[in-house]
Amino acid sequence: MYRTHTCGELRSSDIGKQVTLAGWVQYIREKGAVSWIVLRDRYGVTQLVFEEGRSQASVLEQLKGIGRECVLQVKGAVVERYSKNSEQETGAIEILVDTLNLLNPSSTPPFTIEEETDGGEDIRMKYRYLDLRRPTLRRNLALRYQVNRAVRNYLDTQGFWDIETPFLIKSTPEGARDFVVPSRMNEGEFYALPQSPQTFKQLLMVSGYDRYYQIVKCFRDEDLRADRQPEFTQIDCEMAFVEQEDVLNTFEGLFKHVFKEVKGIELTDAFPRMTWDDAMWHYGNDKPDIRFGMKLQNLKVDGDYKFEQLKKVDFKLFSEAQSIIGIVAKDAAEWTRKQLDELTEWVKRPQIGMGGLVNLKCNKDGSFKSSVDKFFTPVQLQELASFCAASANDLVLFVAGNEALTRKAASELRLHLGNQLGLRQPNEYAPLWVVDFPLLEETEVEGHWAARHHPFTAPKPEHIALMDDKTQYKNIKANAYDIVLNGTEIGGGSIRIFQRDLQEKMFAALGMSKEEAQEKFGFLLGAFEYGAPPHGGIAFGFDRLCALLGGQETIRDFIAFPKNNSGRDVMLDAPSAIDALQKKELGL
Ligand code: AMO
Repeated sequence: MYRTHTCGELRSSDIGKQVTLAGWVQYIREKGAVSWIVLRDRYGVTQLVFEEGRSQASVLEQLKGIGRECVLQVKGAVVERYSKNSEQETGAIEILVDTLNLLNPSSTPPFTIEEETDGGEDIRMKYRYLDLRRPTLRRNLALRYQVNRAVRNYLDTQGFWDIETPFLIKSTPEGARDFVVPSRMNEGEFYALPQSPQTFKQLLMVSGYDRYYQIVKCFRDEDLRADRQPEFTQIDCEMAFVEQEDVLNTFEGLFKHVFKEVKGIELTDAFPRMTWDDAMWHYGNDKPDIRFGMKLQNLKVDGDYKFEQLKKVDFKLFSEAQSIIGIVAKDAAEWTRKQLDELTEWVKRPQIGMGGLVNLKCNKDGSFKSSVDKFFTPVQLQELASFCAASANDLVLFVAGNEALTRKAASELRLHLGNQLGLRQPNEYAPLWVVDFPLLEETEVEGHWAARHHPFTAPKPEHIALMDDKTQYKNIKANAYDIVLNGTEIGGGSIRIFQRDLQEKMFAALGMSKEEAQEKFGFLLGAFEYGAPPHGGIAFGFDRLCALLGGQETIRDFIAFPKNNSGRDVMLDAPSAIDALQKKELGL
């Protein structure tokens, strides 16, 4: 037996026991005649003590050859510590070592392997196996495992079966590019890696396997961000004979179960439901962070004045803008010129793309001061503040311009102000459902429409008729829903089309000819002819859920071996070239 205990296990009640531990040297400290080693493993750390007079001379001699990250096996007695460390679980004891066995020496690691490290991102990615030794990452992966277990337990109690689906498939469009794999046996042909198991889970419903789930890898060749990886994991689920309400209830249950099991948090209230239209109107995006208010004040939208008095104001920026949106920052009237200039610069950055920012200070004494004072009478300023529901000591900020850009900028500005005002606390959780998404969205190519969720999403039954009239496409709503947590889209799903003719109509709306639809999706259309049940489902972004439960927005440190922002695995140095023979065999 390599060890009798782990490095996280021993307590004062073990004092006097002879034990054997194995682990890595976290660090070594020497003070006069005494040396200490902190030994680490997955379970924690334990202090080892060596002292002239108490330890054998041969053991003290061995110490000289030992450095950080060496792998040791030690035997000795559990003794009480002189200076106890109440922050460490094993902080009341230490091991007086009588036998030291160097199992494997270590080169000096390229960065410190502690809670906080001095290693930059690139070097830590290159030596990911060392970075994973850090307690932060260990905790993240422990949390990921806990979430995984809680999900499986809940879905098991609800009668879901975990059924695997293939990775080498034909393209399933989810809005991203496919990763493709050349086929050696079918020269010149390619498999696609699934962007999700969408069509397979639907086929499983056709086969009668009501209540399917999988915690499964998905592959999408898209631009990466903090919350996006080219391969990521979904909790993918599907149910037959359900309506939207059944799906929402089942998965609200899953969410609550995970929170309780993993965080000990009881989310007792029903999650709020917000329509997509309302989310866009009040928050400027479809994944609103509702931990705080600061709803957008829509003064003018698409050329239509919502605040009539503005029509009388001769201020070019406003009169020429398609949309004007205000945001009230509570108790921020006293922000300095410098702070306001910084905010203006912030909205002018290319990512936001606004020309500038108008401000209105509602002073404590009841007066008003604005960056565009000269275009407004004092009464008009007061009316403006009152339309925006601003009170004394508030600051109102306005962005104006093209509708889409302005709404997006206002949404980003709201989040930015929320951060500045400390309104986005990571330990506060505000989940909600966003429902009634549009079925279709116009692409950059005018007159060309794409599926907002994916092509298998069902329109609301009362909107099916609108599919015959292209001018009505923008008004068709889908039985599609997202679950949003703290401004992040954690999951999305829909009730599906299950009739061949409606699915064909949908493909046609997406600009696909009958032949193309048959070529790409003949298998699904065919399946719909053999008794497809009504069905619907959802997929959660497992990495995102874990990161949020861990209080972070970046998913990378919740994945054991992630890719960097350029989609590279720096440790493996992948992707990489393949040799000529391999290429030839693959017919490339
Ligand atoms: P959707 O495309 O909305 O739906 O994906 C579901 C959830 O997966 C997460 N996600 C990602 N996480 C990390 N990196 C990525 N690149 C990434 N892309 C998506 C998000 C998202 O909410 N088949 C449908 C589901 C269904 O209709 O049942 C689907 O894949 O959290």
